[in-house]
Amino acid sequence: MGPLTGSVVKPPALNQSYALKVKNLQLASHSRRFANAPHRPLCETPLQLQPWPNESEAICVVFGLHLLRPSGYVWLTRGNGKHYMALDERKGVWKSGKGKGRHTPKGRQLDDQAWNEVRALLGDRPRSRDLLIEFLHLIQDAHGHLSAAHLRALAEEMRLSMAEIYEVATFYAHFDVVKEGETPPPALTIRVCDSLACEIAGAQQLKSALEDGLDPSDVRVLRAPCMGRCDTAPVLELGHNHIDHATPEKVQAAIAADDTHAHVPGYEDLAAYQAAGGYAKLAEIRQGGDFETIQQTLLDAGLRGLGGAGFPSGRKWGFVRAAPGPRYLAVNGDEGEPGTFKDRYYLERTPHLFLEGMLIGAWAVEAEKCFIYMRDEYPAVLKILTDEIASLEEAGIVAPGYIDLRRGAGAYICGEESAMIESIEGKRGLPRHRPPFVANVGLFGRPTLVNNVETLLWVARILREGGEILSGVEKNGRKGLRSFSVSGRVKNPGVHLLPAGSTMQDIIEACGGMVDGHTFKAYQPGGPSAGLLPASMADIPMDFDVLQEHGTFIGSAAIVVLSEADSARDAALNMLRFFEDESCGQCTPCRVGCEKAVKLMQADRWDQPLLEELCTAMADASICGLGQAAPNPIRLTMKHFPDEV
Ligand SMILES: Cc1cc2nc3c(=O)[nH]c(=O)nc-3n(C[C@H](O)[C@H](O)[C@H](O)COP(=O)(O)O)c2cc1C
Ligand code: SF4
Ligand code: FES
Repeated sequence: MGPLTGSVVKPPALNQSYALKVKNLQLASHSRRFANAPHRPLCETPLQLQPWPNESEAICVVFGLHLLRPSGYVWLTRGNGKHYMALDERKGVWKSGKGKGRHTPKGRQLDDQAWNEVRALLGDRPRSRDLLIEFLHLIQDAHGHLSAAHLRALAEEMRLSMAEIYEVATFYAHFDVVKEGETPPPALTIRVCDSLACEIAGAQQLKSALEDGLDPSDVRVLRAPCMGRCDTAPVLELGHNHIDHATPEKVQAAIAADDTHAHVPGYEDLAAYQAAGGYAKLAEIRQGGDFETIQQTLLDAGLRGLGGAGFPSGRKWGFVRAAPGPRYLAVNGDEGEPGTFKDRYYLERTPHLFLEGMLIGAWAVEAEKCFIYMRDEYPAVLKILTDEIASLEEAGIVAPGYIDLRRGAGAYICGEESAMIESIEGKRGLPRHRPPFVANVGLFGRPTLVNNVETLLWVARILREGGEILSGVEKNGRKGLRSFSVSGRVKNPGVHLLPAGSTMQDIIEACGGMVDGHTFKAYQPGGPSAGLLPASMADIPMDFDVLQEHGTFIGSAAIVVLSEADSARDAALNMLRFFEDESCGQCTPCRVGCEKAVKLMQADRWDQPLLEELCTAMADASICGLGQAAPNPIRLTMKHFPDEV
């Protein structure tokens, strides 16, 4: 029997009661315990009833959790030939047999005010499970933290267990869960980045100065991982305002001016993009594009995934398209690998180049819907995308709701594609075991195309300008272009688009050389996952497949340049601290291994045999790339900088 509808009306005969008019539902009998329950008004909203667990009982499928109201047990009962919804306030109703029993259900009780506040915040959004993180953001934004009462109310509203809400809320760094009796955080939060580029630019001194100079009851100062602005290190986030080349004075001035919101830079909007021929290619492809031809164009251009793994994009599209539908497209905009900021760079300038590439990808795999997972550390990008997606809908280029922008919540691991999918589903970002791969079993169990932001941007460029823009560039026997995010001790850090075969010497040259007074010592070739290489290895082409024989990889091309003023050992420790913080904790080799490694690396002299044993266990037995690659900084530092360890 499908859902049945009923509505609540006030019966004349019974005081303070609402009779329940039920169509098509015969409530033959009900629990004897509640037969004489005093009737109390409940809600005036139409109810949807369906038999549960047998035909003689019913649950309201809209307000199912009303059945567990704090002040008693709600039940459907019958009297005077009518059906009533009753609220039983007798003590002991939670215990069968003799004795007082429990007056209320177990666990936290629902607070009506918190419940009303949560309902007001959620408005008419569907209470669907995958929106949990979005809803937690709404509460965190409105109240500055997540109180136990609000979490309980959200559990009620979403018909989820409190445990499910709690485990998600506590997984993500940007949610502040405050239990009963705990003090909520102050209204203003400063997050000081302490990843490698900011660390060598003085992040610790900056953090200490801020802690000394600010009243902790007004402002709290937290450490945080890379914010994707490494070229302007040290960086901090005041509220949602990122302060580049941060100093305590800049922070004081921003606080005084109440400048705590994201600064949205000027960018190419829809009108400007269309005026330059934007979306003509998409229209042409939608009209009569041939998948095989487009796939071949991408393969010939040599486009490979720029999120780090370098998988040929055309081939990936083919796998997803070949899997039975419905399918989804999920864009990876998490950009959490410290030192990487190329996606932000492009999104803050040419968001539509990426959006057009994404819609071409969606066409290619016939995606039912596109999800964009954007990291919470990029509030300006979130605003740009929100506005430009609305413009696309207004212009009729996409149907309303076809592009679903999701906001991360401060967890690096959600950049790993299966963890990202879990997060889009509203869960903790725990990487999945493979196989199956997300191309076959991804979002909501459906085949899913996951591509990095920059990969999709190149899709649009290749199809608009021709594959030669990549395949026509050759250097040191390598083809293509690479967006290097360069930071550290160079004169002009930033995103540098250079031939993929460029060496570190070329990259430093493109950055105007080393900062005066600094001598090149070492570099991180592709984020902390890639570890450190010495300056003596600056003549290797910085491309996919080349660095593997040196025990590392190019990854997302996140390059941090170190000088003789920096310690390789400290840099490696910084990297392992990051992994220790960001490990999702799902598997022991990574969770315990990172923590143990940090301890061992703090010793005056490293216990190298023990560290090597640990590295082997982590690399061999971790579930995902985080734990598998975390040993790289340890091994490469022991190998190339033995004097320091
Ligand atoms: C620990 C970890 C973190 C990752 N972080 C990101 C990320 O922030 N952004 C990204 O695009 N890919 C990231 N990846 C790679 C993704 O899993 C995936 O390969 C990529 O999004 C696929 O898109 P592409 O083929 O266009 O590169 C990460 C992988 C691992 C193992
Ligand atoms: S390797 Fe680390 S991050 Fe990956 S699943 Fe295991 S614990 Fe989580
Ligand atoms: S913003 Fe600090 S290291 Fe990237």
